[in-house]
Amino acid sequence: MIIAVDGPTASGKGTIARALAAHYRLPLLDTGLLYRAVGAQCAALGLDPDAEDEAARATDFADRLLTDPALRSEDVGGLASRVSKHPAVRAALLKRQQDFANQSGGAVLDGRDIGTVIAPHADAKLFVTASVAARAARRHAEMLGRGEDVTLAAIAADLAARDARDSGRATAPLTRADDALLLDTSDLTIERAVEQAIVLVDEAL
Ligand code: C5P
Repeated sequence: MIIAVDGPTASGKGTIARALAAHYRLPLLDTGLLYRAVGAQCAALGLDPDAEDEAARATDFADRLLTDPALRSEDVGGLASRVSKHPAVRAALLKRQQDFANQSGGAVLDGRDIGTVIAPHADAKLFVTASVAARAARRHAEMLGRGEDVTLAAIAADLAARDARDSGRATAPLTRADDALLLDTSDLTIERAVEQAIVLVDEAL
């Protein structure tokens, strides 16, 4: 059983994917971490994230980098978004994601192109989204909670720019697969969003 969870940043897709993996007892791959690792590796090695050949060299990262908490920062998220537009970077990360998806027993993968490129044959596909305002408010609360000093307006602008970059790129853009079920979390608590995700996946299986 393969469950694909795609959607923009701060839509709740990560939390929903984690809850689905626990509910159906499936292993989970947060594919954003792979792109974040490439971005972090570019920064560490002084490679240009906007140059395809340089970013491609950063795909050869050590697995232990994936557990580094620094990967979750906004700065690394921005770098990830820049390296992820390069076809050579996406190609280098493809097999690892497909092998994870196709392991016996099934898997949950969360990302941007799971239902369209990585696992078009997934048994259930969710496209999790929310308004920019709702996503910015969540991210703002999260960052204030960590003691970071940012304005709501700056976060909203950053999210909109990230959306435009992820949806506008030529290779594997963020887009809803024709057969993906839409879950808009703008007005839902995370508990309600998870409940609805399980209902949708149950219906799809
Ligand atoms: O989901 P997360 O915020 O960790 O992803 C970071 C960046 O990695 C995204 O903004 C996107 O550009 C890229 N990404 C991608 N394809 C995926 C997962 C993430 O292009 N499957």
